[in-house]
Amino acid sequence: MKHAIYPGSFDPMTLGHLDVIERAAQMFDTLTVSVLNNMAKSPLFSVEERVKILEEATSHLQNVKIDSFSGLLIDYCAEKDVHIVIRGLRAITDFEYELQIAQTNRKLSKGSVDTIFLTTSLEYAYLSSSSVKEIASFHGDISQCVPEFLVDRIHEKFA
Ligand code: PNS
Repeated sequence: MKHAIYPGSFDPMTLGHLDVIERAAQMFDTLTVSVLNNMAKSPLFSVEERVKILEEATSHLQNVKIDSFSGLLIDYCAEKDVHIVIRGLRAITDFEYELQIAQTNRKLSKGSVDTIFLTTSLEYAYLSSSSVKEIASFHGDISQCVPEFLVDRIHEKFA
């Protein structure tokens, strides 16, 4: 059974995240999408809300599970007995940061956790959770950025 973990903040999830989830789900028997519970940040959506949103957005994918974690990703991977982490790459600017995290995780886990990068589909290469929040904060149109059911929920946060 090939099992991978796709970790992230997903605050909020975007169509770019969904694209990575759908493609990774085809490559593995099971994909766990896991929301980082980061006490240091003040998020738009709580961890529980983000988990529910991801469950709704991936309900058509039978082999995708949604979870949350706190602490080090490699400890979470060990707990789940998973050795592959999925991350999306939008542009070269993502690469330096992602490479550093991937190599740190590989070193810290003594080679047990490897990272596989999926390049984001071009139509979503411009998308980020931060830009979605910024557009929504000015009551702009985010309908091309997030799943349809999520548009109003994000706008409500800025109402
Ligand atoms: O969606 P994001 O915010 O880019 O996701 C970043 C994430 C969750 C993958 C990363 O911050 C993470 O794994 N955090 C957990 C703490 C950890 O293990 N850090 C790696 C050592 S530098």
